[in-house]
Amino acid sequence: MRRRSLLALAGLGALAGCARTGATVQPAAGPSGASATFPPGFGWGASTSAYQIEGAATEDGRGPSVWDVFSHEAGRTRNGDTGDVAADHYHRLTGDLDLMRDLGLRSYRFSVSWSRVLPTGRGAVNQQGLDFYRRLVDGLRERGIAPVVTLFHWDTPQALQELGGWENRDCAQWFADYAHTMYTALGDADPTWLTLNEPKTVVDVGYTAGIHAPGKRDRQLANIVGHHLLLGHGLAVQALRAAGTGGRIGAALSLSPVYPADETDAARSQATASDAEENRRWLDPVLKGSYPQDWLATQPAAVRTAMRDGDLAVIGTASDLLGVNYYGPTHITGTGSRVMKHPTSQATWQEIDPNGLYDLLTRIKRDYGDVPLTITENGMPTTNAFDDQDRVTFLREHFAAAHRAIAAGVKLESYHVWSLMDNFEWAEGYTQRWGMVHVDYTTQQRTLKASARWYKEVIARNGV
Ligand code: FCB
Repeated sequence: MRRRSLLALAGLGALAGCARTGATVQPAAGPSGASATFPPGFGWGASTSAYQIEGAATEDGRGPSVWDVFSHEAGRTRNGDTGDVAADHYHRLTGDLDLMRDLGLRSYRFSVSWSRVLPTGRGAVNQQGLDFYRRLVDGLRERGIAPVVTLFHWDTPQALQELGGWENRDCAQWFADYAHTMYTALGDADPTWLTLNEPKTVVDVGYTAGIHAPGKRDRQLANIVGHHLLLGHGLAVQALRAAGTGGRIGAALSLSPVYPADETDAARSQATASDAEENRRWLDPVLKGSYPQDWLATQPAAVRTAMRDGDLAVIGTASDLLGVNYYGPTHITGTGSRVMKHPTSQATWQEIDPNGLYDLLTRIKRDYGDVPLTITENGMPTTNAFDDQDRVTFLREHFAAAHRAIAAGVKLESYHVWSLMDNFEWAEGYTQRWGMVHVDYTTQQRTLKASARWYKEVIARNGV
């Protein structure tokens, strides 16, 4: 339980001032002038998610999701911000597509709002919702940009939440049925499919810390939810195979290399336990079809009972790739607490360490084999609204680390910067700007930041 849980433990209000004190990134440490050319066709991309950018929350038949309900509850988000309008992407689709083309993006990762397509989560399809995503994938293909579609980026339809949402085992099948709807609707555009975004964050922040929707604080329930999410992943992979539309699919996991904070045996053993929580409990089921024994041993009977015979075979159904969201490493002391050894950002849960990305990618290869990898998210927020040189430095160093991993034999295919544009950052509302493109929330005008202009050059020369 690391990301954002710092905020949770201190209480949302208590950290209102401190969240803006983030340090900036140190200047590039590497030899100046060193260059790294990426493999031909490398998938330079950017990432967004539906609730964070689309807006149009009640238009054209969209049903509510847990985030609509949660963000409208008093005290849940900074300044009471909601995704009602967000970056108004739903109405500005063509302009945003042109922006992506002008940047030279080769890949774009977005998510589908489940309740835009299925307003009550299952049953009747909302054709207007499907039409929006059709225009999006067609618009990408027309501009030579590969679509990467995330099926679940945290916005469970509220109608399903009222039936227990992911606490209810049936949700895994409802998710697979929805996935099937999307495969049928968009399969001919041959997108890359991603099942879940960061199930860890749903478990840790939505169900344990209670600072994301649905705002529950129950660790046992959280881990049952975690299992059902994974089951949903497996069923959705199987549904793609059954649909016969072809296409590649995988999960997008938030992963963090874990290091002992010092050389003591106690720190080493705590780091192993933390690695089970942070990484292996997600990677092992998806890539090996098993839960790690040391993690399983920490789980109460109620969680183990939720894991039925045959589930792991479903969860471990062979996927075609793995999405990696990387925001930083974790250092663990002998008493099991986290210490920061690198600068943070405005997001105080973030620790900025490009080398951690290299360690993470090479570790996945070492322990899980040559599964094709895509970086589905990496980035930082900054208060430098337009001249975001700190983000340029951050990205340059992370790209260099990725390049070293490729040189070490890692099959990294693409890299999606979080985020294409400023957006609704969940409980932080609009106070954290993660975009390479600035959004003026009053006029909805888009302006390229220094990082976007720099990224355009990186893409054009295929390297840093
Ligand atoms: C990730 C989320 C993404 C965004 C970034 C900053 O955990 O997947 O939606 O909030 O963090």
